[in-house]
Amino acid sequence: MKTNRLIVLMMLAGLAVASEPAKQAVPAHRGKQIFDQWCGICHAASPRMPGTASLAAKYGGSLPAALEERTDMPPAFIEHFVRKGVLIMPAFRKTEITDADLELLVDYLKAKDQ
Ligand code: HEC
Repeated sequence: MKTNRLIVLMMLAGLAVASEPAKQAVPAHRGKQIFDQWCGICHAASPRMPGTASLAAKYGGSLPAALEERTDMPPAFIEHFVRKGVLIMPAFRKTEITDADLELLVDYLKAKDQ
């Protein structure tokens, strides 16, 4: 009986070790995945998206309507809207988008500045 338990424990330990690299392999475009999961439904590059349509009306073409095409947004600006929301845009809780994920999201939206 004890031997069986030991074998099971060793197998579990093996599994834990085997799955470790997969957990660490965060894709470079994790920010894009977060954007697609939480923001794309309103901010994807299509005039039919409510966020994109709203920003097209707000800026009247002086800035791109699609967030992924913007290069002018400081991190604090993005963070403010994500945490507070605006109009029909909900405020996102830390249980939905963690601070670490928000940082990746900001990095993704800022990456196009360079
Ligand atoms: C339910 C639809 C919806 C979702 C989901 C949504 N937004 Fe929005 N977002 C809007 C609308 C509508 C506005 C307001 C546009 C306006 O002021 O006319 C907006 C505004 C913004 C602004 C301000 C832009 C500006 O120049 O005024 C930012 C930044 C922003 N959203 C980022 C995000 C991010 C990042 C996500 C994902 C975490 C997200 N939004 C998810 C609908 C949405």
